[in-house]
Amino acid sequence: MYEKEINRRRTFAIISHPDAGKTTLTEKLLLFGGAIQVAGAVKSNKIKKHATSDFMEIERQRGISVATSVMSFEYKDTLVNLLDTPGHKDFAEDTYRTLTAVDSVILVIDSVNGVEEQTRKLVEVCRMRDTPVIVFVNKLDRDGKYPFYLVDEIEKELKISLHPLSWPINMGKEFKGVYDLYNKSLNLFTANQKATEENTVPIPDINHSLLDEKVGDRDARQLREDVELLDGVYGELDTKAYLEGKVAPVFFGSAVNNFGVRELLDTFIRIAPVPLGRDTDKRHVEPNEAKFTGFIFKIHANLDPRHRDRIAFLRVCSGRFARNTYFRHTRTGKDVRFSNPYSFLAREKDIIEEAFPGDVVGLFDTGNFKIGDTLTEGEDLQFTGIPTFSPELFKELVNKDPMKTKQLEKGISQLTDEGVAQLFTQHGGNRKIIGCVGELQFEVIQYRLLQEYGASCSFVPLSFYKACWITGDKKAVEDFIRFKQSNIMEDKDGNLVYLAQSEWFLNTERQNNPDIEFHFTSEFKTAMTK
Ligand code: G4P
Repeated sequence: MYEKEINRRRTFAIISHPDAGKTTLTEKLLLFGGAIQVAGAVKSNKIKKHATSDFMEIERQRGISVATSVMSFEYKDTLVNLLDTPGHKDFAEDTYRTLTAVDSVILVIDSVNGVEEQTRKLVEVCRMRDTPVIVFVNKLDRDGKYPFYLVDEIEKELKISLHPLSWPINMGKEFKGVYDLYNKSLNLFTANQKATEENTVPIPDINHSLLDEKVGDRDARQLREDVELLDGVYGELDTKAYLEGKVAPVFFGSAVNNFGVRELLDTFIRIAPVPLGRDTDKRHVEPNEAKFTGFIFKIHANLDPRHRDRIAFLRVCSGRFARNTYFRHTRTGKDVRFSNPYSFLAREKDIIEEAFPGDVVGLFDTGNFKIGDTLTEGEDLQFTGIPTFSPELFKELVNKDPMKTKQLEKGISQLTDEGVAQLFTQHGGNRKIIGCVGELQFEVIQYRLLQEYGASCSFVPLSFYKACWITGDKKAVEDFIRFKQSNIMEDKDGNLVYLAQSEWFLNTERQNNPDIEFHFTSEFKTAMTK
């Protein structure tokens, strides 16, 4: 059912290491989609690196990211849902969760810096779900790495096969443009100007003299050599392999100059996957099923601290979502309905009547939702594949105002439901340990606990290396818990977690406890048990 609606949708995210050009590319895509009229309309969704204690900045950031969390626009009859991901690395978990709600990604790589730390981590998360990736190599107007070298580096570092669909003619000051290997046309580069149709020169054949005329003999010769080599190595793009996440098409360009972006977008709508099915704990759900299902992948607190209501982001997985209709919230078993669900069509952020698979709907929530929650038309199932990863920093939560204990407990519970951080409670005790990906989150928690719940707290740093979810033989687990009492915690769902002091400790415990499994994510079926 709803095939027509499903087939015209593409839901994706742009990912990159900070500063590679994600915001700039987002803006150019929105310009093509007519969602914004002028450049500069999309504010950089970044907390500047030195402003970690500037809470106003954090607040501002939260405001901006609600507004740009999802950007929907129509391009050539395709409805494109672009899900934004935070630029700051301390919010990497947010990005990982957003990736569960998309069907493909565009990865931006800075041609000068090549593969960077965050690029590696993000692609690893994509690989867990075989998410199709298109690569955009950005900043060709700067002297970057030699393209063949770059392709090689990306393939090796990210362990993914690439397939160039465009190829640059020089770079930096000498950058002349890109050759579109699919349309066999030449796109001539003009710095700081909007790339227009006139800059595209169709070339009947790569050996045609038109090429020499446009780029000069030397560069024409080089391009012919490159293209011959590329054709020999790559041939036609295997779209199936792309859809399976095995091969990533590559484009070269310069986002700030709006160069190479149109080819990227045209190819994207041609080959990117339509909304895909998702796994649940019971069965696989296909988008064309008649009945509605969806899951919450992100929760955003209200910008106004006096109002605690939040916006929960729902990805529609199957059927049709409708306003004022009762749906089952499967974790609580309650039936809920939404009178003001809203869409993110960039020009009209508005109440919507219905939504289809691939769409993201904003739901007002008064604290009932948790990341990963599922809504259905009554069927009892829970979407999977939204795992929690081991945090990297751990601190003990200290209550500074015993009169506000209740507020603190409620606040920390709600903030961790939102996915700001993870809460671990001592097994058989009351110690609370907060795990985060970055320092900034601790500051956010402290600030929000005070502002929104009136509770003050401090944090004592703990030197743990990783949190591992443990499962296995009942007796072995019981013994382990007894011996390692002070390192055993429970996550919010009551799962047992072992906090390891160091990699050495973890390896030793693994060796000593062959009947226990140590998992690095909360979802054991897909666990990366390295
Ligand atoms: P991000 O969201 O991935 O963090 O990156 P963003 O788009 O904010 O871009 C980071 C910087 O790189 C920006 O410069 C941006 O103008 C620049 N940039 C983006 N695309 C290109 C390109 O194709 N060529 C060149 N040379 N630069 C590019 P900034 O100085 O940090 O900010 P701004 O003052 O220019 O906005």
